Amino acid sequence: MDVLNRNIERLVYITDRAAGFVQVPPEDQYRLERGQGPGELERLLGAGNGVARHTVIFAGFDEYGQLDDMLSRYPFVDLSYRFILFGTEKEIEGFDIAHYHSIAGVRTSPLSAAECRITLRTTMLSIEELYTSKVMQQQYLNALNDTRKDQVDLIDIGRALSTEKDQNNLLRMILKLSKRITGADAGSIYLVEEDEAGNKRLRFKYSHTFSRTIPLEEFVMVMDKKSIAGYVAVTGEVLNIPNAYDLPDAAPYSYNSSFDKKNNYICRSMLVVPMRNHVDEIIGVIQLINSKENIDNRPDMEDEAFSIRLERPEDFDKYVVTFNEKYNSLLEAVAGQAAIAIENNRMIEQIQNQFEEFVKASVTAIESRDPATSGHSFRVAAICKEMARAINESKAGELGPVTFSENDIRELEYAALLHDFGKVYIDLAVFKKAKKLYPKDLENLILRLDYLYRFLELQYSMRETELLHRLAKEDAPDAVEGLLEERHESLSRIREIRDSIVALNEPSVVAENIEEKLNNLCSEIGQIGCVSVDGDHMEVISDNDRENLKIKRGSLNETERKEIESHVVHTYTFVSKIPWPPEYRRIPEIALRHHEKLDGTGYPDGIKGKDGMLIQSRIMAVADIYDALVASDRPYKKAMPMEKVITILKEEANRNILDKDLVDLFIEKRIYEKVSKDSFKDIQNGGRN
Ligand SMILES: [Fe+2]
Ligand SMILES: [Fe+2]
Repeated sequence: MDVLNRNIERLVYITDRAAGFVQVPPEDQYRLERGQGPGELERLLGAGNGVARHTVIFAGFDEYGQLDDMLSRYPFVDLSYRFILFGTEKEIEGFDIAHYHSIAGVRTSPLSAAECRITLRTTMLSIEELYTSKVMQQQYLNALNDTRKDQVDLIDIGRALSTEKDQNNLLRMILKLSKRITGADAGSIYLVEEDEAGNKRLRFKYSHTFSRTIPLEEFVMVMDKKSIAGYVAVTGEVLNIPNAYDLPDAAPYSYNSSFDKKNNYICRSMLVVPMRNHVDEIIGVIQLINSKENIDNRPDMEDEAFSIRLERPEDFDKYVVTFNEKYNSLLEAVAGQAAIAIENNRMIEQIQNQFEEFVKASVTAIESRDPATSGHSFRVAAICKEMARAINESKAGELGPVTFSENDIRELEYAALLHDFGKVYIDLAVFKKAKKLYPKDLENLILRLDYLYRFLELQYSMRETELLHRLAKEDAPDAVEGLLEERHESLSRIREIRDSIVALNEPSVVAENIEEKLNNLCSEIGQIGCVSVDGDHMEVISDNDRENLKIKRGSLNETERKEIESHVVHTYTFVSKIPWPPEYRRIPEIALRHHEKLDGTGYPDGIKGKDGMLIQSRIMAVADIYDALVASDRPYKKAMPMEKVITILKEEANRNILDKDLVDLFIEKRIYEKVSKDSFKDIQNGGRN
């Protein structure tokens, strides 16, 4: 605030009451005014803004209070004043002038012309001194405040930049803060990058102009000294340019005015600083345009960058100033912090990408063990993401208040990608078990039944031989007939039994009386009393066969089912070993619970109700079941039409197995369509067979 250079008006004001006590000769150096009291003086002072008034007031002692009250309301830059008061002995008796700084003197008798001149001169001088010292004080205070503000800004910038993880938000923030500090109207950020041939170039990455609405268009430009940004990127020099249209003749760079022409803008002052990273490499350039700082000596104008609009050409003349020199180094410090934040983010992004690719590659590898479920985890992840986004959009009902940040969505995605990772610990044969008996076991059983067949056949042959012997002695043709019939029936029965066993081997859907059927078959076979070649009793249907053939639902026995179910605990143990950053800490928990059911019949812990598990796990449960239903390649299921799938999902929700709100959202928002259209492309190209 440059108050020292203000115009000063020296004013002498004499109240009517004091008029008889003073003889002020008119002088060029001051303006002489007379009046009745505070009202008239106030009117006098009302006009003439922007002028510093140094005023000596001659007034009656009893007028002081009112006058001083009125005058003390003016800021010192507009008015500095002193009183010379006149009163009677009685009035001033006991009055201590030391307490009243605005009183320069008190008299009981009139001043002579000479006294008047001297009093006036000395009082004016003291006013001047006071004014100057106050101005200096104010200037120091302003400078101090400025420095403190810069310091606070720098600390704030450091803090803000180090926490912003999104690259675009980061650039936006860097530019906004830089503009705020310097009062710039516009600014751009360029980032250094390499083309395919490894040559450096500049990418115009982000830009903002307060006074214009201009859509952002990224472009790349050659990184050389011919452009202003290029010059700074190449040399690392800070450029503080008062007028871009009046560059020094020797400057190697020139200003490209196409932006100005296109947007009816005038780029005048510029501050361009390099962004250096921790190894002093220039990774970009911050270019600030048109500082509007400190215009018009207005101390109340705090945030010029975002309050003064440059509309007409004259606005540029009126408001735009050269960037203050102090910003050269301050902005360089900001740019340094920005560079480190940008690099940090790049590194984090790179690590994240690498990790993501690694997770995807691992999941693909594991899923390739069993082509039947290939792509399942990717599809579940895609559905989960779509669900989370749909929940963010839903504003009503129980899901209304639930929101997922981008981090939350990524956490859910990772959990979904890894949810079946524990299957790697499980015997592949169990997974692929499509029928109740493993193919080898069925093969063996059939062989034994064939053996039984031949065994019976042999028995009958022996009985036939024996009979023929007997027939040679007695004539009994009926017996031969009977035996042949019996032989035919018994052997046919074995074939029937074999067919029944093959039928029983199919995975059951409805729980019929399988066990009784099986027991009957076993006892029927047992009665035959099959013996091996060595003459030992032979069990045609083994205990293991019986155990499996009596399975009431699906193709897995109890032990196998438990083994399959253990995949969630294996997933949990494995995923817990990954040192996740805090924002992903719930991944193991989310993945662990994807087979829990709201009615408490799920696993591993049979948790009942919504409270015991995260909503992420409930989302995953819907996605997992949906994908299991639509997958045409599950061992025990054929592909289902979508209406059927939706009906089953609704039923599961009504039976309190799946979260009804989530199933409703899934159906209502047609999540399955979005996912099948957009997210399965990659998988269809490489995964599912
Ligand atoms: Fe699972
Ligand atoms: Fe799954």
